[in-house]
Amino acid sequence: MWSQDRYLAAYHFAARAHQGQIYPGTELPYSIHLAFVSMEVIAALRDEPGRDGDLAVQCALLHDVIEDTPVGYAEIAAAFGTPVADGVLALTKDESLPHAAQMADSLRRIRRQPPEVWMVKLADRISNLQPPPAYWTAEKVARYRDEAAQIYAALAEASPSLAARLHAKIAGYR
Ligand code: NI
Repeated sequence: MWSQDRYLAAYHFAARAHQGQIYPGTELPYSIHLAFVSMEVIAALRDEPGRDGDLAVQCALLHDVIEDTPVGYAEIAAAFGTPVADGVLALTKDESLPHAAQMADSLRRIRRQPPEVWMVKLADRISNLQPPPAYWTAEKVARYRDEAAQIYAALAEASPSLAARLHAKIAGYR
């Protein structure tokens, strides 16, 4: 269903790319986020067999590489193949667009990808709906919750188990 050796290769690649970054609001290495997102995806694959597990797991581990590191599409495609690189690119915000348009644009591009890529976006937001940093305003918390609801509405059909987890996280987020 998914290969441990591909997991290791993708995790190494991503951890090197994100080297020196911390997960916002913590003092922990950024790669903790990649472990959480891939864990959510792997749990969903267990509940929902029939998916391309390698595509889902590799995209989960690599999903922030293009957005947050100097490593680009071509290097991911060379190391992991075009379907993985296409998935990661769809999961990357287009920062040339106005901020308010970036989420809808990314969701549109994700919806043109296989459902395994949708699963990564659901898992990413599940992982990001931990208690918000104390310095966030109530407006920012509400905006983040609304954005999560937008992700749920666009992508829930890809995975009942991830959709249920995201739904619960949204309900409890404050
Ligand atoms: Ni992420």
